[in-house]
Amino acid sequence: MVTGIEIGRRDRLFLLTGAGVSAESGLPTFRDNGGLWNGYRVEEVATPGAWTEDAEKVWRFYSMRRRDALKCQPNSAHYALAELERELGERFFLCTQNVDPLHERAGSKRLLHMHGELFRSRCEADCGLPDFFDDKLYESAAEIPRCECGGRIRPHIVWFGEIPFEMDRIYSELDRCTMLAVIGSSGTVYPAAGFVDQARRSGARTVYIGPERPLNAAIFNDVVLGKAGEVLPGLFRIPKAG
Ligand code: APR
Repeated sequence: MVTGIEIGRRDRLFLLTGAGVSAESGLPTFRDNGGLWNGYRVEEVATPGAWTEDAEKVWRFYSMRRRDALKCQPNSAHYALAELERELGERFFLCTQNVDPLHERAGSKRLLHMHGELFRSRCEADCGLPDFFDDKLYESAAEIPRCECGGRIRPHIVWFGEIPFEMDRIYSELDRCTMLAVIGSSGTVYPAAGFVDQARRSGARTVYIGPERPLNAAIFNDVVLGKAGEVLPGLFRIPKAG
């Protein structure tokens, strides 16, 4: 059982979080409940095709997730990562697959939402309108707002088949990290699922944190079994300088 993972003065930490880190805040993960929403598979709702076919259904899905997220608070896993960032500064990089705002609300700042953000929207057309903060709920086609260009406003979320955000920055952080920790992710969706291979190739130590052994456990140096909210506080040790 891995307890204190020591972070040396020259170590650079890359944290990849998934839905499991928000599970103890009450947000459902994608695959623990079979990845179903109202009988739909997430892959059926979170796609450009679903948007073309039935924008109302897509906005009802994201409005439900906005409603759920507004009721949740960060849990001790989010706070432990925000504390680690305060101690490590620019030697810490947090890449999350999650679109909820719980990392920010726990105090994380050096954070990248590679799959977008639940409380941001943008125009469906490439008209130059930047993405913007939006916490409104849209439950019918008539409520879906229009951009000045005439395009419909869509969630600022990376759908299946779309390219995640800031991959160049992610890959450069992966190349220079000395430790990659994957927390609360099933490792089933690429490109995030491939980060551990890339980190290993650049010689980093790889750590998996989650309640069940992942299918790809063999490629991790350390597998820490447990809930993120219970395991993360105190998992990483930073020896005092001097
Ligand atoms: N602490 C840590 N891990 C947990 C906890 C917990 N309390 N509860 C569940 N888990 C683990 C599960 O064992 C599972 O491995 O979290 C993981 C959640 O996996 P998924 O539901 O597949 O979520 P994630 O890996 O983030 O999905 C990746 O898929 O649907 C797309 O874009 C969506 O970002 C998402 C991506």
